[in-house]
Amino acid sequence: MDVSESIIYRHARVSVAPMMGYTDRHFRVLMRLLAPRSLIYTQMMKDEAVIRLQDRSVLFGEDRSLKGVVLQLGGASPERLALAVAIAEPYEYEAINLNVGCPSSKVQLANMGACLFKQPKRVAQCVEAMRRATNRPITVKMRIGVDECDRFEDAVHFIQTVHEAGCNDFIVHARKAWLKGLSPAQNRSIPKLDYHRVLALKSHFPKINFVLNGGIVSYEQAMLWLGSFNQVMIGRQAPRQLQLIAQLALGSSEPIECQPVLKKYFEYIERNTDSNRFHHMLKHCVGVYQGQPNASFWRKAVSNVMQNNNLSCLQDLLHLSGQMDQSIGAI
Ligand SMILES: Cc1cc2nc3c(=O)[nH]c(=O)nc-3n(C[C@H](O)[C@H](O)[C@H](O)COP(=O)(O)O)c2cc1C
Repeated sequence: MDVSESIIYRHARVSVAPMMGYTDRHFRVLMRLLAPRSLIYTQMMKDEAVIRLQDRSVLFGEDRSLKGVVLQLGGASPERLALAVAIAEPYEYEAINLNVGCPSSKVQLANMGACLFKQPKRVAQCVEAMRRATNRPITVKMRIGVDECDRFEDAVHFIQTVHEAGCNDFIVHARKAWLKGLSPAQNRSIPKLDYHRVLALKSHFPKINFVLNGGIVSYEQAMLWLGSFNQVMIGRQAPRQLQLIAQLALGSSEPIECQPVLKKYFEYIERNTDSNRFHHMLKHCVGVYQGQPNASFWRKAVSNVMQNNNLSCLQDLLHLSGQMDQSIGAI
């Protein structure tokens, strides 16, 4: 199969953003069950980390039937990135994404992430090398600007240069980043969102795919932008409101019946957990009913089971989820 034709990759209306500490492999399993038609990004992995891995299956950890996952890489060396892409090839990711959006000082120190926005030629070389290592789409996640390099023309120049190297998909966080003076968290809230800048870029490059990211918090808001973009990417709200992703993937704001999904996810936990991992696997369920009546009741119940570290309580949670589904009219 020509992977660039993958149905999920081309037609997903919503994607879950790469987020360190959140979009780990357990979260991706839960999300896949809840919203099969969404695209899910891994948290960023440095090219060097991929290359040095002893037991690659542990970190990638993807069940090969887990479709719709995009691997995000961090790096700035065409050779190392190409090697990391080649190593990832057997894991059948839908696409490989290069991080050009992260402003953290640690990432900057390695000349990775957002600072690469000012080095379009280098990014183009990276994309070219990555493309040679796979047939899968190579995509770029970026900001609308970085520091003083924030004019419309700067973004046009970046996109044009990188597009000529073979990237046809740009995920754009609709705010600029400041490389000095703001923490990564501040860089996700202080610079103003400018969705119209992304819209203008899309109009400027009608043949390029643009995904809108940044500050999308509700079904209505996402649907509004889906009138102009083929896909929106949701970050912080994804682990907080898991149903939002499922609803956007389905194009309906009706409540989702979660008990069958949780049943499968709990079976996955039972198959894969030990006492160290139980907490990490279950924590992703906290936001399953967020936004629905009695959501706090569910959150407390999940927290209690996590605290007790008691696998046998999963059946009680499952029973509760059946009651939650009924009370919100999902059945
Ligand atoms: C905890 C956390 C970790 C993140 N890690 C990454 C990352 O590894 N790679 C990346 O490109 N962006 C990362 N981001 C940025 C998100 O992908 C996204 O672009 C940003 O949060 C804006 O989207 P939102 O407003 O929907 O949250 C992270 C964001 C958060 C909150």
